[in-house]
Amino acid sequence: MSEEAQKPERFGDFEVVGRLGAGGMATLYVARRADEPTPVPVAIKVVHQHLSADWEAMRWFIDEALISIRIRHPNVVRVDELGEQSGLYYLVMEYVHGASLAQLLAALGRRGKRLDPWLSAWIVARIAEGLHAAHELRGDEGELLGVIHRDISPQNVLLSHEGEVKLVDFGIAKARGRAERTREGELRGKIRYLAPEQVAGGPQDRRVDLFALGVVLWEMLTQRRLYASLSQEELLEAIRDPRAERPSQYQTDIPPGLEGFVLNCIAAKPEERPQTAEVMWHELDDFLRGAPEGFDGAKSLAALMQDVLGEALLASLRALPPELAQAAGIDLVEPTLPRVRRDETGKLILPEPTVEAPKTGRSAAAKSAPAGQKPGEVVLWVVAAVVAIGAFLGAAWFVLGEG
Ligand SMILES: Nc1ncnc2c1ncn2[C@@H]1O[C@H](COP(=O)(O)OP(=O)(O)OP(=O)(O)O)[C@@H](O)[C@H]1O
Ligand SMILES: [Mg+2]
Repeated sequence: MSEEAQKPERFGDFEVVGRLGAGGMATLYVARRADEPTPVPVAIKVVHQHLSADWEAMRWFIDEALISIRIRHPNVVRVDELGEQSGLYYLVMEYVHGASLAQLLAALGRRGKRLDPWLSAWIVARIAEGLHAAHELRGDEGELLGVIHRDISPQNVLLSHEGEVKLVDFGIAKARGRAERTREGELRGKIRYLAPEQVAGGPQDRRVDLFALGVVLWEMLTQRRLYASLSQEELLEAIRDPRAERPSQYQTDIPPGLEGFVLNCIAAKPEERPQTAEVMWHELDDFLRGAPEGFDGAKSLAALMQDVLGEALLASLRALPPELAQAAGIDLVEPTLPRVRRDETGKLILPEPTVEAPKTGRSAAAKSAPAGQKPGEVVLWVVAAVVAIGAFLGAAWFVLGEG
């Protein structure tokens, strides 16, 4: 059995209740603290066994994990604990019920859609806000700790069903980079987010994260990968000597100003990029002042998540014990059958075959249907009820007719 397929029962004080997925470095579980009266779900990131055994890599992992525990910001996934059990290292962190930006982009792609440019700018502004808090992290003596994420990519941006944006996996790249170099002798993974100075192996600072975030925005705006057609060799060459491709080559509706901003972020020379994540987020928020009337980033994102990933979100919630699902922010109420009434003569009054359209759009639908439940499910229940009632009437007619 592969190491990823094993599902442990417990890590330290935490009881594992489900598996979230696996990446290059670790497997993710959803868990709860055992014996806690009010259950709260947490995510546990358990480093793969072969990496846990690599002491050099684990030294990086532990150092960086201890730093990431100090980062407290609404746009960064909170890390609570670092632990080790039977030689496996793990991190306990905030559980985000939702999906990664990579999963959202893939789901949009499957439907032939893409992200709205204003919403893209808003999401990136929030990532930049979280990133800045990390870059500015200071030690006990007030000294700058020089935190760099090094692995900003759509996989490491989590989006909650409520429209929150949270950056995850601080410092993990350093440990993984070391482990992969050791195993493979080369730098693998998400090459197209690497800044030229990372590929060249020269001195690096926070601006490598700003470059990566620029590439993420480029991909959100175009719904395609930067340098999509290049081989790995050509890609490394293109990054060292970027011939920045304009997003407007692929999409015609990029708002003016946003294209220039993206191209600045992915400038080859670090000094030509915005110099801090704070500058990035302020520029994006200034730009968002020109958004269409009533634009609300969190609301638009929550609605989009529900629209594109609603079924997957509901399924992942149903996989949790109900008390944890509720703590994850949603009351998971099973749909109830529509009431069936009889008239004065005792005849059944069948429910209308269609669901009444909500009067005030999305928010009304969200209120009338149990949270997380899609209107389509209500229709299914109504259809099931009509079929059941039909069958009942048929049987009654059959019995009465026989009599
Ligand atoms: N705190 C969290 N809450 C909920 N889901 C999470 C959390 N952290 C990670 N996940 C999800 O768990 C899965 C595995 O995450 P993991 O970070 O191991 O892999 P990855 O991000 O896909 O790849 P990488 O190894 O490059 O980080 C992903 O689907 C990710 O979105
Ligand atoms: Mg990750």
